[in-house]
Amino acid sequence: MTLSRSSWLVSTLCLTAQLGSALQLTISSPDSIRSTASVVAYDLMSYYTGNRTGDVPGNLPAPYYWWEAGAMFGEMVEYWYYTGDTTYNDEVKQALLHQVGDDKDYMPRNQSKSLGNDDQVFWAFSAMTAAELKFEDPGDGQPSWLALAQAVFNEQASRWDTETCGGGLRWQIFTFNAGYDYKNAISNGGFFQLAARLARYTQNQTYVDWAEKTWKWYAGTPLLDMETWQVNDGSSTQKNCSDASQLQWTYNYGVFIAGNAYLYNYTGDGKYLDRLDGLLNTTLPRFFPDNMGGVLVEVACEPLGNCNNDQPAFKGFLIRWLAVTAQLVPEVYDRIFEYLRKSASGAAGQCSGGELGRHCGREWNSTTWDGVSGVGEQMSALAAIQAMMMDTTDLAAPVGATTGGTSKSNPSAGTGASGTTGSNGLPSVNRETITTGDKAGAGILTAVALLLTLITGGCLVLE
Ligand SMILES: *[C@@H]1O[C@H](CO)[C@@H](O)[C@H](O)[C@H]1NC(C)=O
Ligand SMILES: *[C@@H]1O[C@H](CO)[C@@H](O)[C@H](O)[C@H]1NC(C)=O
Ligand SMILES: *[C@@H]1O[C@H](CO)[C@@H](O)[C@H](O)[C@H]1NC(C)=O
Ligand SMILES: *[C@@H]1O[C@H](CO)[C@@H](O)[C@H](O)[C@H]1NC(C)=O
Ligand SMILES: *[C@@H]1O[C@H](CO)[C@@H](O)[C@H](O)[C@H]1NC(C)=O
Ligand SMILES: *[C@@H]1O[C@H](CO)[C@@H](O)[C@H](O)[C@H]1NC(C)=O
Ligand SMILES: *[C@@H]1O[C@H](CO)[C@@H](O)[C@H](O)[C@H]1NC(C)=O
Repeated sequence: MTLSRSSWLVSTLCLTAQLGSALQLTISSPDSIRSTASVVAYDLMSYYTGNRTGDVPGNLPAPYYWWEAGAMFGEMVEYWYYTGDTTYNDEVKQALLHQVGDDKDYMPRNQSKSLGNDDQVFWAFSAMTAAELKFEDPGDGQPSWLALAQAVFNEQASRWDTETCGGGLRWQIFTFNAGYDYKNAISNGGFFQLAARLARYTQNQTYVDWAEKTWKWYAGTPLLDMETWQVNDGSSTQKNCSDASQLQWTYNYGVFIAGNAYLYNYTGDGKYLDRLDGLLNTTLPRFFPDNMGGVLVEVACEPLGNCNNDQPAFKGFLIRWLAVTAQLVPEVYDRIFEYLRKSASGAAGQCSGGELGRHCGREWNSTTWDGVSGVGEQMSALAAIQAMMMDTTDLAAPVGATTGGTSKSNPSAGTGASGTTGSNGLPSVNRETITTGDKAGAGILTAVALLLTLITGGCLVLE
């Protein structure tokens, strides 16, 4: 993601909330969960135009960035897994394969301006989910889901940077993107979780070692405190990571929680369970506050009404990662689902907006639509609602190569591709092909977005 991703559609500022009737959800009934999820998924996919003639598969229209599309298709893989509804499978598969880029590594050249390590890993997560849930494999001549995830892993491993902060991944890949001098939770947590999932799927120790190295580095900086279990957002390389931004985001916790869950499920080593316990100790009370109805709240922006275009999707990641954690670590199932049930009811209750009276807002503690809607809001609500299938039906756990997985391994995928690093830590091919014009373009976008953020202040921006 980039700093330029502030909401900048100002044409429909500050619309007044409309009243509508919320979606009905009975969280103990699989039929009710399926039918409610199908409505929310339909409305989510209505934002997608990439399957129309002349449009590009896998892209969402502005103002949504490339990463969010990748994350959305991963959630739609889960939609099929949870509900059995195959309606969107062809579109989802087409989208996930169209955006792999020339080197089959989720680095399409024309996305460079919004392509950080976190953006890339969100697409890799979706490919990994497809492998783990046995989503239909790509055809001959196409990379396997697993190989796509391995390609991203290999490239990110080659970007491990010991020049500053003693290690870690930078947020951005390209020097011209704002945030190149930031080492942060979602990029390093993303790499950690991807390594953990590859370890469990392939049973290759190298991935465990990388996950462990990333965790140890993260916990050895002000980014993570293993006494208080606070996950901080990021740290500047210009200060050699001597302090950290204390911003608290749901998905930063979720990404590390699930990574530890996969590692615990694979290794059975109690240290991962301990980390899980510590992270849950912080996550559950902090983001499901009692005084806001015990539902999931993006506390850093939701109560202030100033979430940007990316942030409304974050809650959905925490939910999805908590759900798979509960599945992989039965010891924490009850503790997690106690919270998820309340949020599922709350999320459905908030889906009462827009012309159809069923678009989802953010405030899951209220059945009055809060006046905002968009891809992120739909994704978060869908995550909360469909996770209830895990609570009411028997679902097969994510597979690995020895437990029914059919996705072919290619441990050297992505090596030698344009996305791997050159001698100065920058991708060699892309370094040459990025022109001065591209840099100026990125800079202007950032400036425009910052200006609009200043103008719009805390005002809510709608679809
Ligand atoms: C595109 O997606 C929409 C929404 O899922 C669907 O109704 C439509 O049939 C799709 N169009 C094509 C050409 O696949
Ligand atoms: C970007 O590249 C993809 C191929 O990777 C291509 O299909 C698409 O048309 C290009 N343009 C946009 C706007 O995505
Ligand atoms: C930067 O931090 C790393 C890790 O803490 C440390 O090893 C290194 O000496 C520091 N470098 C400088 C110049 O302070
Ligand atoms: C989590 O909280 C419980 C209850 O306060 C405490 O017993 C436990 O030690 C904590 N776990 C960690 C890893 O700090
Ligand atoms: C609902 O949550 C919002 C924050 O998202 C908060 O401002 C509001 O006071 C809460 N309302 C209730 C009834 O708890
Ligand atoms: C791993 O997850 C599976 C599926 O939920 C579960 O049956 C198994 O007990 C878990 N293994 C460990 C070590 O927790
Ligand atoms: C394990 O993964 C590493 C890193 O990708 C790779 O170099 C190695 O060949 C893999 N080993 C096996 C047995 O696949």
